[in-house]
Amino acid sequence: MNRIIFACALAALTATPGFAADAAKGHDIAAANCARCHVIEKGGAFKQIPPSFQSIAIYRTADDIWQRILSPNPHSNMPDTQWTLTPEQVQDLVAYITSLDVPVKLSP
Ligand code: HEC
Repeated sequence: MNRIIFACALAALTATPGFAADAAKGHDIAAANCARCHVIEKGGAFKQIPPSFQSIAIYRTADDIWQRILSPNPHSNMPDTQWTLTPEQVQDLVAYITSLDVPVKLSP
């Protein structure tokens, strides 16, 4: 029984949250929380550390991006945002980052 409840909760968290993602809000959240480390506007480079948001959009799926925001690589100085961002804010961030997946020439 518990397992079923857990599965449902997980599905509700990962599948279709009951709010609309807003890429414009995601941009503002990124400007406030992420821009001190990441290039959050279009451009940047694949090999830069941390990677630019546009390069992340190109080589990761939305699910991967979601996961890496909530549980960053523990060996990096990427902050643990799990306790500071609401699920809505993470959704908006993912919407913003994936919106950057447009054809453009990035530096190597
Ligand atoms: C203190 C600097 C810092 C801040 C602030 C920061 N990050 Fe990061 N982030 C990093 C570093 C460093 C990495 C690379 C981690 C690695 O090498 O695995 C990273 C990696 C990532 C990745 C995974 C990239 C990939 O494809 O492997 C995502 C997604 C990400 N950050 C999103 C965000 C978002 C969204 C925010 C704002 C809420 C943010 N980061 C704020 C430093 C930061």
